Amino acid sequence: MYVFSGTGNTLRIAELMRDALKASAVQVTLLPFEDGTEGGVNTADTIIICYPVHAFNAPGNIIRFCKNLPAGRSNLYFLKTQGEPLKTNNASSRELIHIVRRKGYRYRGEFRFVMPYNIMFRHSDEIASKMLDTAGRRIPDAARIVAEGKKHLLKRPLRARIISRFFGFEHAAMRLNGRFYRVNAARCTACLECVEHCPVGNIRFENGSFSFGKECVGCMRCAFQCKTDAIRIGLVDFMRVNGEYDFTKDPEKAVIGRYCHKSYKKYFGEEEKEDSYD
Ligand SMILES: Cc1cc2nc3c(=O)[nH]c(=O)nc-3n(C[C@H](O)[C@H](O)[C@H](O)COP(=O)(O)O)c2cc1C
Repeated sequence: MYVFSGTGNTLRIAELMRDALKASAVQVTLLPFEDGTEGGVNTADTIIICYPVHAFNAPGNIIRFCKNLPAGRSNLYFLKTQGEPLKTNNASSRELIHIVRRKGYRYRGEFRFVMPYNIMFRHSDEIASKMLDTAGRRIPDAARIVAEGKKHLLKRPLRARIISRFFGFEHAAMRLNGRFYRVNAARCTACLECVEHCPVGNIRFENGSFSFGKECVGCMRCAFQCKTDAIRIGLVDFMRVNGEYDFTKDPEKAVIGRYCHKSYKKYFGEEEKEDSYD
């Protein structure tokens, strides 16, 4: 399993998947994305590439990763996390599927799990816990499908494919936006966690000041993890979400808001009640 996770959600789900596969007696190695493809791709029967959905697409570094994969014949799945359950996200692997098929891999399908937003707006901790709970219930089925090498294709409605293609400009937009990141010197403690953990090495600290390069993929790790909330994320700063979610809250107390109300209800497996926002 290769995992890219900006702010921890995808990693959490990938770890659940790894544990469920192990429980089905499958030998599995989980490799953080930053480690590259060495140590397994050519020998693994099955590859699972895990990523967060960004603007109805896969992040730019995942696309590069797939382009750099050696040719292979293994089964290949994608596992993705996303902030909303809308089918509009279903075409996010569109480009990746073409790339891996061209390299000879047997694309078998993908799994999507809803996890709290790390941009746009903050979900409540209760909803975050409910999402993790729901993923936990769904993972064993997904692991069984992978272990048996079965297909799991998501429906990709035309609308989703059009929207995904349209938002393809996101990669360039994120690279550009990255140039506008700023650090608030009054808040910054120069712990340099952001420099150390940027997955694409885009942040530099020299002579007491920060600079941001052209490689930003907009994963939000730097701002999300900044303990003093010192990083402004350029032109999309108004959508900033900071700080870890607490996944230990009571999922029963989760209140599903107005936004995508029906889709969340459906994803959580709950009946529409009379108070629905139709
Ligand atoms: C730049 C950016 C764009 C995003 N776009 C979408 C989107 O189009 N649809 C969606 O459901 N979630 C979107 N999200 C939310 C993430 O997919 C979600 O929070 C994910 O679980 C984050 O995973 P991570 O913690 O492993 O990085 C976006 C997040 C970022 C940072």
